[in-house]
Amino acid sequence: MNVPRIAGHDAIKMTTSTPTFLHDIVKTSRDMWSKGWAEANAGNISLRLTPEIVEANTAFFRTSEWVALQRSVPSLGGEVFLVTGTGRYLRNVELFPEKNVGVIEIDDAGKTYRVLWGYKPAGAPTSELGPHLGVHAVRKAKSDNAERAVIHTHAPNIVALSNALDLDTRILTRLLWRIHAECIVVFPEGVEFIPWLLPGSVDIAEATARALEKRRVAVWQFHGILAAGRNLDAAFGLIDTVEKAAAIYVRAVAAGGVKNQLSVAQLRDLAARFHVQPDETILGEST
Ligand code: 13P
Ligand code: ZN
Repeated sequence: MNVPRIAGHDAIKMTTSTPTFLHDIVKTSRDMWSKGWAEANAGNISLRLTPEIVEANTAFFRTSEWVALQRSVPSLGGEVFLVTGTGRYLRNVELFPEKNVGVIEIDDAGKTYRVLWGYKPAGAPTSELGPHLGVHAVRKAKSDNAERAVIHTHAPNIVALSNALDLDTRILTRLLWRIHAECIVVFPEGVEFIPWLLPGSVDIAEATARALEKRRVAVWQFHGILAAGRNLDAAFGLIDTVEKAAAIYVRAVAAGGVKNQLSVAQLRDLAARFHVQPDETILGEST
């Protein structure tokens, strides 16, 4: 039988030759958009690729000029990252991955990077590359090489709390822990609150990297949230949990105020039941 060429033919060909490193980032980008966290070009994602994934996809790679990093990351020398592009919309990642996402390689000294794939026809990694790489360096060391994903996004309820309340790390973490039972189990080490710093600056890269020595999630005042995890689902799940607790708080306030919440004793019971060790400087003695 004479099978006519159909419009879908090229699309099918494209799918079978899609680099395998794209699967997770496409899903995560879609989820971030669906959650309402990623208006316009808001938010960015990075994933430290395993040597196996890099090896399996070298046929897709090209070489390009080395570009200086804003802040050197010696412990990431030789690592390869999948990173969303600056100015790109996460909602478009699944439509045009090769335009909206790229793969970069860090040189052995951790001072420069070059593009191996993507950012077509022209582009560059996110303007938040500094915080992303700073956090990767810290979390790689802290997790014995296990944590590979970093997500930053503009989750609205957590940003609203940074507008409505006077926060610090202790106040914010206790507020979240006490409003919903899941929180102390998911982030027993707490959420770091980072007062306003310029997006994409060396200052925000250094402050965030310092914060993630102790925790896996930080809130940037008036701006958004950043989390690290062993994969994109883990980093996404952390942000989702923080954002959901913030939303519950906002709803409780809208419904008349927070009259009842978990006590310190109840939080201690939860921590014991789920075998997590909360940051005692935050949990404290008082109810
Ligand atoms: P990019 O488009 O450079 O990733 O910036 C988005 C953003 O959220 C900056 O904080
Ligand atoms: Zn941002």
